[in-house]
Amino acid sequence: MKHFITFEGIDGSGKTTVMHLVYQELLKKGVKVQVTCEPTDTWMGDCVKKCIKNDVDPFVTAFTFIADRFLHVKEIKKWLDQGYLVLCDRYAESTYAYQGAQLRDHLEDPIHWLQDLSKDHILIPDRTFLFDIDPDIAMNRIKHRDELISFEKASFLTKVQKNYLELAVSDHFQILDATQSIETLTHICVEDILSSECC
Ligand code: TYD
Repeated sequence: MKHFITFEGIDGSGKTTVMHLVYQELLKKGVKVQVTCEPTDTWMGDCVKKCIKNDVDPFVTAFTFIADRFLHVKEIKKWLDQGYLVLCDRYAESTYAYQGAQLRDHLEDPIHWLQDLSKDHILIPDRTFLFDIDPDIAMNRIKHRDELISFEKASFLTKVQKNYLELAVSDHFQILDATQSIETLTHICVEDILSSECC
């Protein structure tokens, strides 16, 4: 069984909905499981949300996401030590993909820079599900939301998507076609998490 699982994808990819269904399925099977998310529901996560809402400088936004994760990882380690399987809605790859896209006019290799800043302070997930979807379809799914943040534009999400696909060469990734039904996606994730097969 895999223990630390992250769910990634552009806004509107459906990862949050599927992650909660996966959580319910695992609970039904008697698995000791904890769900969590980034930005976190803490004061540090609130700082992150303020950065996003107010289009704060991308470097400050990146450092704030990394600081939020720095504290979050301590919690995640505690849950894993207590025997919980941890499902996390967004994690380090969100920073590499989103802030990598934001910083690409400022740095030569922003993803590498962000990975370097993070590497001594994060846990590598046993599995990262990447919900792969065309940014136009994703935008169609979220356009009715009340307040769209500045990241939620097809042109930006296209850059984010490209970064995700570059990152997904790492062994812990599984790319999922996010246009499949939520039942199918949930089933694939649950089977994969419970399988003993290593990434
Ligand atoms: P989130 O609350 O997960 O939004 P949603 O539920 O709509 O996916 O994340 C808020 C936004 O923050 C989202 O556009 C992705 C972005 N984000 C980053 O830019 N970097 C990060 O490291 C994380 C965790 C999220």
